[in-house]
Amino acid sequence: MGGEGKKDEMILLNPGPVNVSERVRQALVRPDVCHRESEFTELLHGIQAKLLKLFVPGAESDYAAVVLTGSGTAAVESAVMSSLPPGKRMLVLNNGVYGERISQMAGLYRLGVSELKYDWTTRPDPERLRLALRQHPEAHAVAMVHHETTTGLINPVKEIAAVVDSQNRVFILDAVSALAGEPLDIAGSHIYMVAGTAGKCIQGFPGVSFVLVRKGFLERMRGYPRRSIYLHITQYVDDQGLGTIPFTPAVQVYYAFDEALNELMEEGVAKRIQRYKKVATLIRDRMTKLGVNPLLTPDKLSNTITAYHLPEGVTYQLLHDRLKKEGYVIYAGQGQLQSQIFRVANMGALTEAQLVGFLDAFERVCGTA
Ligand SMILES: Cc1ncc(COP(=O)(O)O)c(C=O)c1O
Repeated sequence: MGGEGKKDEMILLNPGPVNVSERVRQALVRPDVCHRESEFTELLHGIQAKLLKLFVPGAESDYAAVVLTGSGTAAVESAVMSSLPPGKRMLVLNNGVYGERISQMAGLYRLGVSELKYDWTTRPDPERLRLALRQHPEAHAVAMVHHETTTGLINPVKEIAAVVDSQNRVFILDAVSALAGEPLDIAGSHIYMVAGTAGKCIQGFPGVSFVLVRKGFLERMRGYPRRSIYLHITQYVDDQGLGTIPFTPAVQVYYAFDEALNELMEEGVAKRIQRYKKVATLIRDRMTKLGVNPLLTPDKLSNTITAYHLPEGVTYQLLHDRLKKEGYVIYAGQGQLQSQIFRVANMGALTEAQLVGFLDAFERVCGTA
């Protein structure tokens, strides 16, 4: 494997699940506990306090951290379906697979939904949103993805949040692939709900996710209809306030999540972002030298994913299979981009040496394809 790592260990260059540190892996192996006992309450309260400290520093008392057993989709879905009073609509800014999924969620639950739809390489326009919100008083909430994993595109959260706030609407942000990888001022931008997950830039395992909810909005939300047994946010808030959780949690995954949060506190969010940015630059510079063309212009790129056009005459399957033989897992495109691009993510506990190993393998594989 490119001289790095053990033979049976893959270097994951997909956007989650990610490679975790040995310390996080070892945290899985702690004593079995019952989730109705004080040991679990302590674990849960620790996770909540760390999430607030990391992601709404200085405004911890203005937000609640709702922790769910389930992948990132569970967190996003719980936010979507807890956010609307009867008869109101959600406006989704859709420029990728995950924006599309938010619309599908709202549609499936028969909530009113409208879209401002964009090409997958285009960012939503704040002024167009302002106009739409002025024309549609029934649009109660606006939902957007922070980092569109489809393409690795960063949406303009600050500018969109300012419009949503000025129009007194509720902003729901899917930051599943962004939190701890991109700067985000949740409290300063008055974002009401932010969905995140353990298994991407936080460098935990998949299986636990969370929603950060602004407390003022939480009180309003209590008056909205319950639309799900499992994903009803206010029930989590009420139970978690009592030190418990409504449904059986993946206890061991919570242990590892807690350890991943400890690691993140030690490293610091800003430093993690810098680390990701640095290795993304390493990948991008080398790919440029190799003549591999990115899908997006540099101004739109995230710190953790780069989508590339497949080199001439090379299929995704061939590239993937040859790299996998060398110990590296890349990621395919989605939807209409499936046969055109490949994606390289640099989330997780990866060293620069491992990424250089990947780039060397990539060069070898392309040279012989
Ligand atoms: C932006 C975004 N939202 C939601 C999800 C769904 O997360 P999960 O696959 O963990 O359910 C993903 C997964 O990649 C994502 O990138």
